[in-house]
Amino acid sequence: MKTVTDMDPQELREHKEEFLRVLNAWFIAEHRDLPWRDLDAPNPYHVWISEIMLQQTRVSAVVDYFLRFISELPDIAALASVPDDRLMKLWEGLGYYSRARNLKRCAQVLMHDFDGAMPRDPAALAKLPGIGPYTAGAIASIAFGEPKAAVDGNVLRVFSRLLADRSDISKESTKKAYTELLDELLPYAHNAGHINQAIMDLGATICIPGGEARCSLCPVEGFCKARREGITGELPVKQRAQSRRQEHRVILILENGGKVLVGKRPEQGLLAGLYEYPGARITPKQMEDFEQGPSGKRALKAYESLFGEFGLTAKKARFALRSKHIFSHIEWEMIGLYVETADPCATEALAEKNLYFADAGELKERYALPGAFSAYTNEFLNRRGDIDGSHET
Ligand code: ADE
Repeated sequence: MKTVTDMDPQELREHKEEFLRVLNAWFIAEHRDLPWRDLDAPNPYHVWISEIMLQQTRVSAVVDYFLRFISELPDIAALASVPDDRLMKLWEGLGYYSRARNLKRCAQVLMHDFDGAMPRDPAALAKLPGIGPYTAGAIASIAFGEPKAAVDGNVLRVFSRLLADRSDISKESTKKAYTELLDELLPYAHNAGHINQAIMDLGATICIPGGEARCSLCPVEGFCKARREGITGELPVKQRAQSRRQEHRVILILENGGKVLVGKRPEQGLLAGLYEYPGARITPKQMEDFEQGPSGKRALKAYESLFGEFGLTAKKARFALRSKHIFSHIEWEMIGLYVETADPCATEALAEKNLYFADAGELKERYALPGAFSAYTNEFLNRRGDIDGSHET
């Protein structure tokens, strides 16, 4: 197969049985002990939830979320009927919230069309909401032993080195070529799920990025062309990501008697359906002005012009707390506008605009505020002595 990439997989093909045997033995002896892993009797629901959480998110950040999620929603039926706000609260801080919404939609399809169980066929899996080719391969192989590739960023790096392949791993054609090669090898494996997870673990712990690879610990060092050619540090080749658009924003922390104003975001677009502290886009020049020294007057004026529509009169205002959050395509540079109001809360009028006053308990238990706002949430809770270390954002 002289494919779209420069790779020469002949060596792996010729020695596939040995290659797979060594990887399997290494995985059994050295696998990371993770709460969704059960090597003897994998639970498809656990495999699915963990794979979705692990997209774009590190293993160490996922563990606690996973445990809380499955303890509250122990099976597909529970997930299919969870209220949306509760689902968002369980996902709060993990980011990429459409993943959670797709999980619920997928659970509903499974209840309706698949008798409440995950299918084992990768093609059927790949048609479900939120499940692409990678996740379909991961669930089919890990939960059911199906010989199907699951090529993520770690696997791309490991294969680019094994094959000394200089193809750009950000290209679909490279992913396709490695997927085809693995699909060809996996039917010879004793357990395809072990092999896929072994390669993921190798990429996460041994065949790590930069010039840092720990080749002397690698079970498949002898198969690695990059190692032989001394070019491990040059691989993988990856085109630089496009730069992100920067947005400057003012974030309103409006307090009334120990409660803070939160708003529900629209059901479409960035952070859809989550809660936020109301915000407004400003120019970099305004940001500079706002940052300059203490001036209650400047803050009051900004409050009135940016948030006057809420109809709540400010008693005091000040700017404080710069914070930054990086999304996939946008970067938010934020500054807090702290306002105290003495108005009695016109709760019903505010609720019509999807605005609510929340106390510390409600911020922690009820409203899902994304990680983008965690500096402001933590500061608010801290001031009230309500932070308990378990509030992860
Ligand atoms: N990253 C994504 N899925 C994984 C898995 N099943 N094991 C290890 N790392 C992973």
